Amino acid sequence: MKELVSILFLLLLALLVSISNAKVTKPNVGNFLRCLRYRNSPGIPITEALYTHNNSIFASSYFSYTNNKRYANPNNTNLIAIVAAKHESHVQATVVCAKSYGVQLRIRSGGHDFEGLSYNSYVPFVILDMHNLRSITVDVSKKKAWVQAGANLGELNTKIAEANKTLAFAAGVCPSVGVGGHISGGGYGNLIRKHGISVDHVVDAKLVDTNGNILNRATMGEDLFWAIRGGGSASFGVILAYKINLVKIPEILTVFKVNKTLEQGGTDVLYKWQLVASKLPEELFLRAMPQITFGESGEKTITVKFYAQFLGRAEKLMAIINKSLPELELKREDCYEMSWLNTMTFWMNYPVGTPASVLLNKVAGPPGLFYKCKSDYVKKPIPKEGIEKMWKTMLKFNNAFMEWNPYGGVMDRIPTNATAFPHRKGNLFKIQYFALWPDANATDTHLGLMKELYDVAEPYVSSNPREAFLNYRDLDIGSNPSGETSVKEAKIYGSKYFLGNLKRLMETKTKYDPDNFFKNEQSIPPVHVMYNFFNNEQSIPPLRAM
Ligand SMILES: Cc1cc2nc3c(=O)[nH]c(=O)nc-3n(C[C@H](O)[C@H](O)[C@H](O)COP(=O)(O)OP(=O)(O)OC[C@H]3O[C@@H](n4cnc5c(N)ncnc54)[C@H](O)[C@@H]3O)c2cc1C
Ligand SMILES: *[C@@H]1O[C@H](CO)[C@@H](O)[C@H](O)[C@H]1NC(C)=O
Ligand SMILES: *[C@@H]1O[C@H](CO)[C@@H](O)[C@H](O)[C@H]1NC(C)=O
Ligand SMILES: *[C@@H]1O[C@H](CO)[C@@H](O)[C@H](O)[C@H]1NC(C)=O
Ligand SMILES: *[C@@H]1O[C@H](CO)[C@@H](O)[C@H](O)[C@H]1NC(C)=O
Ligand SMILES: *[C@@H]1O[C@H](CO)[C@@H](O)[C@H](O)[C@H]1NC(C)=O
Ligand SMILES: *[C@@H]1O[C@H](CO)[C@@H](O)[C@H](O)[C@H]1NC(C)=O
Ligand SMILES: *[C@@H]1O[C@H](CO)[C@@H](O)[C@H](O)[C@H]1NC(C)=O
Repeated sequence: MKELVSILFLLLLALLVSISNAKVTKPNVGNFLRCLRYRNSPGIPITEALYTHNNSIFASSYFSYTNNKRYANPNNTNLIAIVAAKHESHVQATVVCAKSYGVQLRIRSGGHDFEGLSYNSYVPFVILDMHNLRSITVDVSKKKAWVQAGANLGELNTKIAEANKTLAFAAGVCPSVGVGGHISGGGYGNLIRKHGISVDHVVDAKLVDTNGNILNRATMGEDLFWAIRGGGSASFGVILAYKINLVKIPEILTVFKVNKTLEQGGTDVLYKWQLVASKLPEELFLRAMPQITFGESGEKTITVKFYAQFLGRAEKLMAIINKSLPELELKREDCYEMSWLNTMTFWMNYPVGTPASVLLNKVAGPPGLFYKCKSDYVKKPIPKEGIEKMWKTMLKFNNAFMEWNPYGGVMDRIPTNATAFPHRKGNLFKIQYFALWPDANATDTHLGLMKELYDVAEPYVSSNPREAFLNYRDLDIGSNPSGETSVKEAKIYGSKYFLGNLKRLMETKTKYDPDNFFKNEQSIPPVHVMYNFFNNEQSIPPLRAM
């Protein structure tokens, strides 16, 4: 019996080695570009969408959707070309040619990936830029919309509001964030407590698969459709468009911002906030945002800013806060009533009264700042001593903030496996840690400080695994080299991003992209026959080691 198993093992090993050898394709840049240029595309020739370093607008094309200065480098010699697709066939051609000639694909919609995975790689790669594919069609009577991946949230929110002021999409507020990355990572926003997150409202999708075919929900099947709702679509295909459900909102909403510095008792108010924020009426989203600020004479402190979005009028909001968090000392004049679209500008810190057209402003040119983000989920209140320890580290930064985003409401009622996004019941709030700096020479110091802050928070946040939010991508929690995928490593970051949903994501990946063409440093790995056979991938070296 034992002998039989080892013979089987050797046979499988031989099979696997031969398969994996057959798959190793040395990148062939010349053939890749020829393949693109000579593929027929109906309508617009792909050459009108193709930029190489020789092109005079290569750098500006690269920079126009490149958000983090840490990773912005148009001179990266691994970057072969940018295909700014003008037609769906350009997307198909890029997938087919990149796969045939061993070129890695990096898909970019809004370019807001915190770790630059959509525009950076350390092996030869092509950027498939979706920004020209940005049309939006709203069907008011059906409360639905189709939105192409290259549109951003500012355009989407504007289009919906133009069609009907009482409809909205449950997603983030930052207008320049791209729909393609945002939705597929589980985008959340200030409707989260009442309506959940963006993936809860996706009803169909158009995707280019690893063979270059265009699939929709009916043709891709429910496993793949499940995976691209929160599992990060970049592991599975190129999203061309999502069909989304719109939710009803009132014509008038209320917002406020209230500050409490540490000297004004900010820590106590924040402590109390933890006890109530996830239990407030679902119509109310109350974010706490501790931020480094400087007083009049330049002294550094932390100001805890409380931002509220309420699906209702000011009087009612006043009454709720008076009852649940009177420590805020909210005044009527802090509250502003306005339309949904105008609340977007309020959240973006424009002065009240700024026309909503600012949401359509284009951000051009190279990014100005270096930054780093990390995330945590909190399931029980952090004691005051814990908060104070976090302040001590935070005060070592000059420009940093946290967002404490409340959960509860409908998030407690949506099953963990309803979509690939798993962080649902039992969370009080999610923390985003964010640091920014202007000079490359300060990068190491800041990355070190962010690690320190994350270590200080460890005793107070989720554990086994320490959960993380995919849209707040953080390569520190586990990652692979650009061109390789170890299943063992993938299980480390995968279990933090996807919890128990990782297994189904890996099975889906194996079925739809067995050759692992769609990959990045934190993609979902396929699991090959041997892994399943022995049911323990640690008993043999990972594929790449052979
Ligand atoms: C200023 C700012 C504010 C933010 N606010 C929020 C917020 O309120 N809520 C929230 O949830 N998140 C927020 N985020 C995070 C944001 O949702 C993620 O960074 C998201 O992935 C960005 O999507 P993108 O298309 O702009 O980024 P990209 O960098 O283009 O893409 C991000 C990832 O998705 C992949 N991808 C992009 N397009 C496609 C596609 N068409 N098909 C398949 N894969 C694709 C990329 O390859 C990459 O892996 C914010 C980020 C920033 C920088
Ligand atoms: C760029 O131009 C040079 C000469 O002008 C040419 O040799 C080279 O092949 C071009 N490269 C690409 C990627 O088109
Ligand atoms: C890229 O190279 C060009 C030309 O050598 C140079 O002017 C530019 O500063 C470089 N850009 C970056 C981001 O290094
Ligand atoms: C907006 O949609 C609502 C239903 O959600 C409908 O009652 C109302 O008439 C619509 N308004 C316009 C201007 O279409
Ligand atoms: C809150 O603090 C910020 C500075 O961090 C300041 O710009 C703003 O005016 C303050 N708001 C109020 C209401 O005090
Ligand atoms: C809060 O409610 C109490 C009792 O209803 C009332 O006396 C008080 O004035 C209210 N405070 C504010 C700030 O509205
Ligand atoms: C989620 O898990 C439950 C229990 O295992 C199962 O009945 C249900 O079908 C699953 N839902 C989805 C969408 O996979
Ligand atoms: C980094 O460079 C800036 C000038 O660009 C300088 O002011 C600063 O002191 C430098 N910081 C460090 C840590 O070297």
